[in-house]
Order: sequence, then C-alpha cells, then structure tokens
Amino acid sequence: MTYPTNDSIYKRRSIRSFRKDEISDNDLNFILSSGLSAPSGEGIHPLELIVIKDNTTKEEIKSFYEWAGFCTQSPVSVLVCYDSNKIFAAGYDNDDLGKLDAAACIENMLLRATELGIATCWTHAIENADDYRNLLGIPKNIVPVALVVMGYSDEPFVAKDQFDKNKIHNNKW
Ligand SMILES: Cc1cc2nc3c(=O)[nH]c(=O)nc-3n(C[C@H](O)[C@H](O)[C@H](O)COP(=O)(O)O)c2cc1C
Repeated sequence: MTYPTNDSIYKRRSIRSFRKDEISDNDLNFILSSGLSAPSGEGIHPLELIVIKDNTTKEEIKSFYEWAGFCTQSPVSVLVCYDSNKIFAAGYDNDDLGKLDAAACIENMLLRATELGIATCWTHAIENADDYRNLLGIPKNIVPVALVVMGYSDEPFVAKDQFDKNKIHNNKW
C-alpha cells in the first residue's frame, strides 16, 4: 500500500448507536455546507435538507421505518431531499438526477462528519417518501432520498480498505 488509508474515506463506517452528546451548530453547519457543495448535474442544485432534532419526530420515524429507528438515540438527523420540479423544468423526463445529486451530497456529509469525529449512518428514505411527507409537511414534488443519522459514538473509527483488484477492468470488461 503506497497511499494513506487513515483518513475519513477509509475510517467512515455506518454507526447505529450513539451517545446523547449534542453536535455543535458550527460542526452541523460545516457538515451541511459540505453536503450542499457537492457536484450537481447540469448545475440544477435541486437539493433541500431538513434538520431533525425533535424527539417526537424521531419516534414517529422509528414507528414507520425500523432501519432508521436508531435516530431516536442520536442528537440530529438530516433528511436529504430533492425538488423534482427543478429537474423536470430543466427538460428531463425523469428525476434520476436528483438521486445522484443527493448521493453526492450525502457522501460529502458522511466524510465531513467522520473528519470531525462524528459518527453517521445513511438510511434509506425513498421507500418511505410518503411517510416522511406526511410527518414533515413535505410537498409531493420534494423527494426524500436518505435520512442521515449522526452523533457521537463510543465505537472507534477503524479504517478499512475495501479495494478489490478483481473489480477493476482495464479498457474492456
Ligand atoms: C443507499 C443506502 C441505503 C442504506 N440504508 C440503510 C438503512 O436504511 N439502514 C441502515 O441501518 N443502514 C443503511 N445503509 C448503510 C449500509 O447498510 C452500510 O453502508 C453497509 O452495510 C456497509 O457498511 P459501512 O457503511 O460501515 O461500510 C444504507 C447505505 C446506502 C448506501
């Protein structure tokens, strides 16, 4: 290995148990800013982020999607959404671009959080889009992609390199 693996890309892990400690506004804003600074297809920038700290809201999320239920233990979660109207207005006949933009934003947030010593887990929201819409008053054209759960963990970040040379194809399959 000739490259450093002790950085946020390799140290990021999905963490599902958290201490109660709050994340400072400064750190949270740094994470959100990093997310919204991701590349955006055609520069449309359709993303909208909903910051969730309210405990009752977290319990509601747990009740309709158990695989994000651990958000009740964490101080803050961010629902990453995109505005499908903005993508259709740019001439597309589907809104796939929104999901790609969301993924880039999410990964930026996960990496920035890791760098700040904050643990995260990307949880799926697309299948529960209407549950999130009903709970949070989100309009129909706004598509929730992921709830990023974040907080402090007792688990250490252990760097892991998942490189597999069998997955690399040179010039052809
Ligand atoms: C698109 C996507 C959806 C995911 N949804 C969930 C989820 O709903 N709940 C969950 O606990 N983890 C979820 N994860 C986290 C994965 O389970 C996790 O990334 C995977 O097991 C690899 O572990 P690692 O993140 O620690 O490398 C999701 C990850 C991705 C990329």
